[in-house]
Amino acid sequence: MSHDRRHEIPDLLQQAGGLSEGAARRIAEETGIPEADIYGVGSFYHMLARPDAKVRVCTGLSCQMAGADKVLRAAELAGLPVEGCSCLAGCDVSPAVLRDRRVLPSVSVEDIRAADGDWQRLRAAANVADEHWLGHVGPELDDPDTLACNLLAPPDYSGSAFARAVEMGAEAVVAAIEESGLQGRGGAGFHAHIKWKGTRSQAETLRYVVLNADEGEPGTFKDREVMLRRPDKVLEGMAIAAMAIEATDVYLYLRGEFEIPWKAMEDAIQRYEDSGVFGDVHFHMHAGNGAYICGEETALLEALEGKRGMPRLKPPFPVEFGLWGKPTLMHNVETIACVPSIIERGGDWFRELGRGEAGSKLYCVSGHVAKPGTYELPLGVTLDELVEAAGGYVGELKAFSPGGASSGFLPPAERGRPLAFRSLGEIGSMLGSAGVVVLNDTVDMKDAVRSQLVFFEAESCGQCAPCRIGTRYLRVGLDKHVDGNGASADALLHVADAAWQMNEGSICGLGQAAPLPLTLALAHFPEDFEA
Ligand SMILES: Cc1cc2nc3c(=O)[nH]c(=O)nc-3n(C[C@H](O)[C@H](O)[C@H](O)COP(=O)(O)O)c2cc1C
Ligand code: SF4
Repeated sequence: MSHDRRHEIPDLLQQAGGLSEGAARRIAEETGIPEADIYGVGSFYHMLARPDAKVRVCTGLSCQMAGADKVLRAAELAGLPVEGCSCLAGCDVSPAVLRDRRVLPSVSVEDIRAADGDWQRLRAAANVADEHWLGHVGPELDDPDTLACNLLAPPDYSGSAFARAVEMGAEAVVAAIEESGLQGRGGAGFHAHIKWKGTRSQAETLRYVVLNADEGEPGTFKDREVMLRRPDKVLEGMAIAAMAIEATDVYLYLRGEFEIPWKAMEDAIQRYEDSGVFGDVHFHMHAGNGAYICGEETALLEALEGKRGMPRLKPPFPVEFGLWGKPTLMHNVETIACVPSIIERGGDWFRELGRGEAGSKLYCVSGHVAKPGTYELPLGVTLDELVEAAGGYVGELKAFSPGGASSGFLPPAERGRPLAFRSLGEIGSMLGSAGVVVLNDTVDMKDAVRSQLVFFEAESCGQCAPCRIGTRYLRVGLDKHVDGNGASADALLHVADAAWQMNEGSICGLGQAAPLPLTLALAHFPEDFEA
């Protein structure tokens, strides 16, 4: 009966089926954890706070362009326990719908009608197919072995890269990562070796490796595909990282909606544990409960510790003060999946795969293209090259979002610009997680921007006033402008000022990036905002 059990709150609530009537009190009585703490944690996470909403329709941009609004409306009319939700990492199979904790691809109004008001029957007949669905990946190459993540090849559980890493020794492994020029694929593009060296240099010897598989940025779904197709690479990369920083415990944080990738990772862990190829490296899995902000690294650590997922002030950074206050090396799924190939083929090999910046890159492409999917290409291809790999544009290109909602919108004039960290940063955008969304000339930019603003407003954790108030202020301003009533003329006058305050006064990247969809759209598509 102690407060130390607080880290169990999310699990206890998951087992109780969420924060339903009386659940917090019952758990409090059984465990001695204060009811307020249980309520505080439960109310933070969408899936715990609203356990009755068994069907969630993605309202992300790609799903909206594919008719998610109609699916949501049909589900409401059919009496399903439904609500809209933020991006489900299914932009290539839009509209994506969540049934309990499983993402169902390409759900139609007919599917909703066939469920006949029973959420469990929603596509239940297609269950077998749903469990095994894989997105489209490419490109088909003569020698796909030339790619770091290599999604087209079958998994290889031999552990040969780990064995090679052990032979090389930790110093040489870190040197290979440095030579490779590998930059984080989770959004910030931070050089991986700096974090590896930083963790290794800590006096504290109890250290952890953490996998960030929260993948919630609208437009992004590559990590889902890596876990489904190459769980071997993800686990082997983490085992190599653990060996290099002298850690034995590795934590995997998967978003709660990733029921199918979870199964793939769990099976792969079992295979490795049975074969024992990674010695004393232990994997621990943790499922999120629906909160985009938990992708931010320090919010993720808070969530892993069983708390509300609110970002911490930095510094100190996780390499120094991470999980349970111990030095922690955290990486995105794609970043860590590049590691085995770097060890086996050398840092030089990886570096040369890119154009200007190092490596191959998984680009997600969705929206108005013929074959939405995940494409592994040299880091630095242009939009035109990417879309060519994805079967070409559907309709006339009007705008594109190069790296998820946080990257804003760019005009066709930028279609020849390298989709890379540096070159997109130069024009006030970002590569982010490379979730490229293509918009054709049927789209009104006000609708596209609104979708992103609604997302940021819903997902702000609320601890910084500029972010909490600013995300709402921008969305309300756009709504007033669209309404065209008295206040509309002034509604967008103060966007730049609000953006500045959000940029300066927000703790984390959410508040800093949230104004971008609106500011970039106003700059590049002013005609769509004329009164
Ligand atoms: C609001 C916000 C959301 C984020 N979401 C994710 C995410 O879903 N997955 C991810 O890997 N990184 C995400 N990041 C980036 C992480 O904070 C961190 O940079 C990353 O996990 C580091 O791994 P990497 O160096 O391999 O990219 C997010 C950052 C912010 C500010
Ligand atoms: S910027 Fe927004 S999401 Fe990030 S910590 Fe502050 S309130 Fe939370």
